[in-house]
Amino acid sequence: MAAAGLLLLLAALSPAALGRGEQRGAPGRIAVVGGGIGGSAAAYFLRQKFGRGVRIEVLEREAVGGRLATLEVEGEGYEAGGSILHPLNLHMKHFVKELGLSAAPVSGSLAGIYNGEEFVFEESSWYIINVLKLLWRYGLNPLRMYMWVEDILDKFMRIYRYQTHDYTFSSNERLLHALGGNDFTRMLNQTIDEAMQKASFSHKFINEVVCPTMRDYYGQGVNINGFVGAVSLAGAESGLWSVKGGNKLVCTGLIYASKAEVISGTVLSIEPKTRPRSTGDPVNLYQVTYNTMAGVTGDTYDIVVIAAPLNSKIANITFKNFNPPVPEFSSPYHQIIVTFVHGRLNTSFFGYRDPSAFRFGAIFTTENPKLFINSLGVVSPVEKKGEGGKLPTQLAVWKVFSGEALTKEQLGLLFSSYDSVKVKKWLAYPHYSPPEKCPPIVLHDKLYYLNGIEWAASAMEMSAIAAKNAALLAYHRWYGNAEMIDQEDLYEKLKTEL
Ligand SMILES: Cc1cc2nc3c(=O)[nH]c(=O)nc-3n(C[C@H](O)[C@H](O)[C@H](O)COP(=O)(O)OP(=O)(O)OC[C@H]3O[C@@H](n4cnc5c(N)ncnc54)[C@H](O)[C@@H]3O)c2cc1C
Ligand SMILES: *[C@@H]1O[C@H](CO)[C@@H](O)[C@H](O)[C@H]1NC(C)=O
Ligand SMILES: *[C@@H]1O[C@H](CO)[C@@H](O)[C@H](O)[C@H]1NC(C)=O
Ligand SMILES: *[C@@H]1O[C@H](CO)[C@@H](O)[C@H](O)[C@H]1NC(C)=O
Repeated sequence: MAAAGLLLLLAALSPAALGRGEQRGAPGRIAVVGGGIGGSAAAYFLRQKFGRGVRIEVLEREAVGGRLATLEVEGEGYEAGGSILHPLNLHMKHFVKELGLSAAPVSGSLAGIYNGEEFVFEESSWYIINVLKLLWRYGLNPLRMYMWVEDILDKFMRIYRYQTHDYTFSSNERLLHALGGNDFTRMLNQTIDEAMQKASFSHKFINEVVCPTMRDYYGQGVNINGFVGAVSLAGAESGLWSVKGGNKLVCTGLIYASKAEVISGTVLSIEPKTRPRSTGDPVNLYQVTYNTMAGVTGDTYDIVVIAAPLNSKIANITFKNFNPPVPEFSSPYHQIIVTFVHGRLNTSFFGYRDPSAFRFGAIFTTENPKLFINSLGVVSPVEKKGEGGKLPTQLAVWKVFSGEALTKEQLGLLFSSYDSVKVKKWLAYPHYSPPEKCPPIVLHDKLYYLNGIEWAASAMEMSAIAAKNAALLAYHRWYGNAEMIDQEDLYEKLKTEL
């Protein structure tokens, strides 16, 4: 008896109990604006942290999945938005496993790098020939790049340990700093070109290998910031994968697993409200106004998480009566046009008179104003991922990335014949121009914003990381667990803890 009493006393004195200045109940309702991977992962992690009692609503104006979407070509679905995942994208990997989905390897076709006149690099199906070709043309640059990216990736991976231990950050800069110190935050201040030149990579290598990779992944050249540049270089590694049936299945799966309710509507405005209570302090809530098929309506929530890019052209949300006001985010998103063409490539366009000699199923391009495409490649339908694609000379579905919509003339140049064309226009990711400053995560007391992290780098895994960070932040701020937020030297701290 006495022992049990002592234990109770000790428990009452424990730091966890003392840290919670104001003991409060769980929140009643949480709104998540946007049902892309960021919003659906946020719903999932919010449920994990806040438990079964809270009501979670996801407000989505279009289809769940957002920038993860498929487009139908010749009766089959193809990945039209975010497609490729890295083997070390651990949240995405965990989701796929947890939801009973399957991961399929991204089938590699032979790659060529075209400069507008000729192929400056042609991949061979012989591994050893590729190694010799790379050594011959770029010396040790490719190997050094691999090591450079590994070093960044190594530090980046610390986020998973922090998040497993429930630590969170109140700004994107703090998060990046906790991973890689000033080296990481400095990467946002310089272009990938500057960063790699400083690390003494050759111009030729930067122009012919690094730049085409950026053009493929982000539709922009080597003027994008060093961090997003490194993320795209990691996307050129081996072991890449995607979700069988379509990446968007992760979003629908997470929302289902989180038992959140999806409301079809466009959020128009958010406004703080104070409601008096008969007992004790007044409650602070957010009035969220949204447009549905049935007209303009709204509701109040204890916590709001915005998981859509705040930009007048995307999530055009008005923040009413905030004091201090929520800043305006006007930095532009970059337009990308994805064109699916079922047809035969015009190999003459790429300087191959004899189509049978043409082997490339993935064509990257260097910076050349004459070029009207960023990249193109043969793709497989989402249901047949990992089965190996068609040969480039066969009738196949090609996915073409460009900055502007392709004209009939341009399609006629690229393809010797084609029978169907499907186009998807995206405001795809930030238009990067370092020095980059990420928008804040905390917009107001209990109003959080996920997509600021895209200004460091836009990728599915980045949204998932931001989602877990925001869910943890919302939780720790709700319960006053200040010791879990913005801890310095976490890496050293957690090292000794093990
Ligand atoms: C063409 C393309 C290729 C890409 N390739 C890759 C890749 O290979 N690998 C990779 O990791 N990433 C890739 N990305 C990036 C990746 O797709 C995004 O970073 C990620 O999907 C962003 O998810 P999100 O949930 O943060 O935003 P979104 O997916 O944009 O979700 C936001 C959601 O909010 C909704 N919404 C907006 N405004 C409102 C409103 N006012 N009210 C209600 N709902 C609203 C939208 O309809 C949308 O569903 C690519 C992106 C594009 C476009
Ligand atoms: C990056 O640039 C900003 C100004 O744009 C500056 O405030 C910040 O200190 C710089 N960060 C590093 C790590 O150099
Ligand atoms: C954004 O919303 C405001 C207020 O509702 C409106 O006046 C404005 O025209 C909208 N902007 C765009 C680009 O749709
Ligand atoms: C193919 O490309 C060549 C070279 O650019 C061009 O002259 C020709 O018109 C294109 N179209 C066809 C159908 O060959």
